[in-house]
Amino acid sequence: MAHREALRRREPLWFNGAVPSFGDPDAWLAIVGLAPGERGANRTGRPFTGDFAGDLLYRTLGALGLARGSYRADPGDGLVLSGVIITNAVRCLPPANRPTPAEIASCRPHLAAVLQSLARLEVVLALGRVAHDSVLRALGVAPACAPFVHGAAHPLPGGRVLVSSYHCSRYNQNTGRLTETMFRAALETAIAQRSSASRR
Ligand code: URA
Repeated sequence: MAHREALRRREPLWFNGAVPSFGDPDAWLAIVGLAPGERGANRTGRPFTGDFAGDLLYRTLGALGLARGSYRADPGDGLVLSGVIITNAVRCLPPANRPTPAEIASCRPHLAAVLQSLARLEVVLALGRVAHDSVLRALGVAPACAPFVHGAAHPLPGGRVLVSSYHCSRYNQNTGRLTETMFRAALETAIAQRSSASRR
């Protein structure tokens, strides 16, 4: 809290608040990130907008036909997501860009409410283990029943499916843990799971 207050004083023109979800309210796919990045979503007010992680995320969504328009790292860029909504496990900027377990737990009811509000939701794509576990807990599933594995799909209550990917963070991209090809493949798995979710 104190660091957010300090940031509000230092950067009064930044968003500096609980970042709302962005995308299609009729989404079949919810992408769940970790938390707003300091100079990304915390500055611009739109998830993954203005940081390194967003470049890969929005580029891949565009390449797969899930976003229309040009991503220009600015909430005023007119980008429209089609069938997709993006949210975060934690809504406010965490200290040192690293959310505590208490913060993740206190944001979980918001995540649960977002997922609950999506009547057409079929697939959730979790970016990273924290988002993966938080989605499971938000839906009443014990994480031990569906361990995080990059690219794997797990059934969720109500015939929905959870697909998980390493987070598209700068660290994961720079260390080669996540390549552009791997990230695209995870999104393609989410798309493939859509049709199997509809058949259940
Ligand atoms: N920006 C977000 O909104 N979420 C993340 O997880 C990372 C960057």
